[in-house]
Amino acid sequence: MRVTVFGVRGLLGQALMREWNGDEVAGLSSIDGDIRDSGKVREIVERKRPDWIVLAAAYTDVDGCESHQDLAFAVNRDGAAHVAEAAKAAGSRLLFISSDYVFDGRKTSPYEIEDSRNPQSVYGHSKAEAEIRLLEILPDCCIARTSWLFGKGGKCFPDTILKLAASRPALDVVNDQRGCPTYTVDLAGAIIQLCRKDASGIVHVTNVGACSWFEFAREIVQSAGLPAEVRPVSSQQVARPASRPAYSVLSPASLQNFGIAMPSWQDALRRYLAER
Ligand SMILES: NC(=O)c1ccc[n+]([C@@H]2O[C@H](COP(=O)([O-])OP(=O)(O)OC[C@H]3O[C@@H](n4cnc5c(N)ncnc54)[C@H](OP(=O)(O)O)[C@@H]3O)[C@@H](O)[C@H]2O)c1
Repeated sequence: MRVTVFGVRGLLGQALMREWNGDEVAGLSSIDGDIRDSGKVREIVERKRPDWIVLAAAYTDVDGCESHQDLAFAVNRDGAAHVAEAAKAAGSRLLFISSDYVFDGRKTSPYEIEDSRNPQSVYGHSKAEAEIRLLEILPDCCIARTSWLFGKGGKCFPDTILKLAASRPALDVVNDQRGCPTYTVDLAGAIIQLCRKDASGIVHVTNVGACSWFEFAREIVQSAGLPAEVRPVSSQQVARPASRPAYSVLSPASLQNFGIAMPSWQDALRRYLAER
């Protein structure tokens, strides 16, 4: 297979490039091709004519999106549509990475792919609108929704917690947001399999199991053997510009339908801490 990955310098893009063996894979940064530039995107895709395009490029600063709405929609929605239009013109398949933040978090059981989108933040809106546009342009595209990414090669939650725990006796971490931490290595592996299985439609791809940010932080600190105390607090106590869903656990059923199983988030965290 010939594959083109947009967003190659990001957390997931780097993992995709490390994990993807046995196919011809080309990676693009924002310097090689800014997805806001439809002409450039079309030219790149036309030249490469890949079997699959994996779109891992996005404006991912969830709080930054609240104050830079135009940029959020220009990259996350319109940029994604440019890639989909180019894929359609070149006859390439497209796998788009979306987010648990397309949901409002009011459910108390895992979100299935049939559940309605109801984003609560600008970032969530931009990803939800991208999904809708992409399904119009390329009805057979694959949309892989994921959540709470961590991995090598960029800022991520475990690194932040380890840094704070090494310099402070106690950390306050929110305990009223629940989701599925996901290791970029495991997500990349699942994406590669989805492409090889010629997947289409919406798929939820996360490590198995759920926790709050507090529980995630506690596991990180304990696994690293650090003495810092991790204390649970509410989201109200650490106000941030963007609202986050209180519960955004994604059900693994859609991924299991492709015969793909993911390890637990605790197993993924142990591997990450050993490998970083
Ligand atoms: N991180 C999470 O917790 C999380 C959760 C759910 C879903 N997701 C989704 O998963 C995907 C990968 O996330 P990530 O954490 O790997 O993101 P990331 O580390 O922030 O990387 C995103 C990449 O997008 C590229 N990019 C930004 N604007 C661009 C533009 N206008 N044109 C071309 N490239 C552009 C950047 O490229 P340069 O570095 O070359 O400038 C950056 O390397 C994204 O779609 C994100 O929405 C992430």
